[in-house]
Amino acid sequence: MSTTYDFHGKVAIVTGGGSGIGEAAARKIADGGGMVLVADLDVENGQRVANDLADAGAFFEVNTGKAEQVEAMVANAVERFGHLDVIVNNAGIGGPQAPTGEYPLDGWQTVMDVNLNGVFYGMRYAIPEMLKRGGGSIVNIASILGSVGFANTSAYVSAKHAVVGMTKNVAIEYSAQGIRANSVGPGFIETPLVKNNLSADVLQMLEGMHPIGRLGRPEEVAALIAFLASDDASFITGSYHLVDGAYTSQ
Ligand SMILES: NC(=O)c1ccc[n+]([C@@H]2O[C@H](COP(=O)([O-])OP(=O)(O)OC[C@H]3O[C@@H](n4cnc5c(N)ncnc54)[C@H](O)[C@@H]3O)[C@@H](O)[C@H]2O)c1
Repeated sequence: MSTTYDFHGKVAIVTGGGSGIGEAAARKIADGGGMVLVADLDVENGQRVANDLADAGAFFEVNTGKAEQVEAMVANAVERFGHLDVIVNNAGIGGPQAPTGEYPLDGWQTVMDVNLNGVFYGMRYAIPEMLKRGGGSIVNIASILGSVGFANTSAYVSAKHAVVGMTKNVAIEYSAQGIRANSVGPGFIETPLVKNNLSADVLQMLEGMHPIGRLGRPEEVAALIAFLASDDASFITGSYHLVDGAYTSQ
């Protein structure tokens, strides 16, 4: 039986909540009694997760790379549930793989729009709502690639490093007003993002790069997200938390 964190009376938005890490985080927060707006570009999967959460869940279709859609997402959560306490800025994409000297410009822009700008928009519109409430908790999903590089993924690595830095800034700016902000750095996790885009050979190679000898599971990341989002983490803000089977210890 895994630990449940208390989210009774709390309202959370989880972007990319229709799959993988976001889905596991949405379920974990709802398990703790929270209301969750599952926000995703993928209507079918987002609705599937929200339906599973029954009265504790609702779905909102969003492209987090578009500021006006993220603004509408935050407004929808407040309209539906009355206030906002938690945002998990999780929606992300892998993007093209190419060395930097050949990296496609449109692919660079798309990755930045979703993996970096989308996180900024989430905080930009959630923070004013959290201030009205006297505080809140922001969890931004970065990656191990928020602190180390990985060949042929310059856009992803750059965006994730930036998320780690931006999170620190928000913590400095808003801690005194009750808003905590942390980033999470998962190693390679068995989600559709990884399983659908990488060959069996590459997956095996990646397993070998984690001293623990396997990839992570979405629930193992969701446990950390839920802890950071909860009041149990009341003195933790501004930090970058790895959940990586010792990948970055080497
Ligand atoms: N899986 C890993 O190995 C791994 C490792 C480190 C970090 N991460 C990060 O974790 C986060 C979640 O990844 P995952 O592995 O669960 O991926 P996933 O592909 O399983 O899920 C991502 C979800 O985000 C949604 N999404 C994508 N673009 C969107 C957009 N523009 N607007 C709204 N929703 C959008 C997708 O529809 C999907 O439901 C990402 O930020 C990713 O970079 C993943």
